[in-house]
Amino acid sequence: MNRDGALQSAWQQEIKKFDTPPAIADVYDVAIIGAGITGITCAEKLQASNQNCIVLEAVNIGHGTTGGTTAHLNTFFDSSYDKVIRDFGKDNARLLAQAAKEAIATIKANVQKYQIDCDFEEKEAYLFATDEKQAKELDDLFEGSLEAGIDISWSDAHTFPIPFVKQARIGGQAQFHPVKYIRALAEAFVKMGGTIFEDVRVQDIEEAEDEVLVLNTTKGVIRCRHAVYATHTPPGVNLLHFRLIPWRSYVVAVRLKEGNYPDALGYDLQDPYHYYRTHTINGEQLLIAGGKDHKTGHEEDTEQFFRELEDHVQLHYDIDSVAYSWSSQYYEPVDGLPYIGHLPGGFKEVYVAAGYNGNGMIFGTLAGTILTSLIHTGDHNYKELFDPSRVKPVAGFSKFVEQGADFISSFIKDKFSTEKIRSLVELNNDQAKVVKYDGEAYAMYKDNGGQLHAVSSTCTHVHCNVVWNNAEKTWDCPCHGSRFNINGKVLNAPAVKDLSRVHLAEPDETV
Ligand code: FES
Repeated sequence: MNRDGALQSAWQQEIKKFDTPPAIADVYDVAIIGAGITGITCAEKLQASNQNCIVLEAVNIGHGTTGGTTAHLNTFFDSSYDKVIRDFGKDNARLLAQAAKEAIATIKANVQKYQIDCDFEEKEAYLFATDEKQAKELDDLFEGSLEAGIDISWSDAHTFPIPFVKQARIGGQAQFHPVKYIRALAEAFVKMGGTIFEDVRVQDIEEAEDEVLVLNTTKGVIRCRHAVYATHTPPGVNLLHFRLIPWRSYVVAVRLKEGNYPDALGYDLQDPYHYYRTHTINGEQLLIAGGKDHKTGHEEDTEQFFRELEDHVQLHYDIDSVAYSWSSQYYEPVDGLPYIGHLPGGFKEVYVAAGYNGNGMIFGTLAGTILTSLIHTGDHNYKELFDPSRVKPVAGFSKFVEQGADFISSFIKDKFSTEKIRSLVELNNDQAKVVKYDGEAYAMYKDNGGQLHAVSSTCTHVHCNVVWNNAEKTWDCPCHGSRFNINGKVLNAPAVKDLSRVHLAEPDETV
């Protein structure tokens, strides 16, 4: 298994093991935790600026969201510019637009510099309002984008066979193959003397003498002067866990009967919205469509979202067959902008990049640039805008409170009110359930071969109860988005410890 779920993404065959031979330094300049686009971009930039770096990855490069993204490269975001202007002011909205353009330029420059064969293509994007309510939203989005300095105009083009009452075109967008891209950057990093260790999980960070950080890992200790958490959320209990909401998003990559693949990026304005683009994988064109997002751990029958997504795509395109379907995780920041900079409450030289919403390829790339500058000089143009310690009592705050209440009710319900329910259940093959027995709760799954896998249902982060995800065959935590496989192995932070496995006695064993 080399992605954080059972389903295969369109990029997954490009994910390879990437361990480099041990070149253990006494003290690294920078240790980067996580080898997705954030970690690998940071590593390449820092190593190129004469920092001796090590990347520590729990599984393999691209294992997390980079292996499951749909890799749209946009200058507009899930937090639209009109909202950013309202909450952060026009100057900051312009700064955000500038940052987005810089991120695409950085990717393009890397593709050229290292001659990366990653299907990078510049594209236009189309946003379609499918009813009058969405048309009003699109008007606001349009005005905000113009004020921020985005290349946006009204359009009647029918690039997508989706009826609209109003449509905007945005120039200067792009797309690429995310795993081919980070793999080439990782190769460049290693060529410059960088080290990548896979299958090693960082459990915590301590501070030693002389401002050296000590990283305790599952394979021993690594010492460094700076550390970067490129894992979405850091382990432990941190302010950021209360400012990030984990979401799942669903993707299908389909073959079309008519072959009318769009030559652009497309988005409707439904809530949650659908997104479309074309990519050629192994010589075969595919329409990649996504949507049906929901909060992580809030739905058990996740297979229904693939059926609904396919039905939705079929409304507009004649689907021949489904080549891939998969889901992926992203984190919504409470005030709409990501957190990139010093880890709040952490040691002085520990950094974090998180809260990208559905725009991880752009913000992951920006994080590389920003954190490199912070490590070298302590400063960057975007330092304040993305400061993880910022306090913005904006519209999102009420959502945060609502979400916080959600955590609490989940916690209390799981811990107390249902504790009386103690019954083991009969499970069919490929079925899962949390059962209470003798005061303990177990997350149980019977696989297609009839084998039962049982683990504690208590998340090892801060003890919420995990929920089954039947499409990806994972146990997902509704509180802060940790995810575990059927045997309890951690797939997504902030948890760093596996769920404890339960020995199940065979029928003829004496218990
Ligand atoms: Fe925080 Fe599970 S992720 S309690």
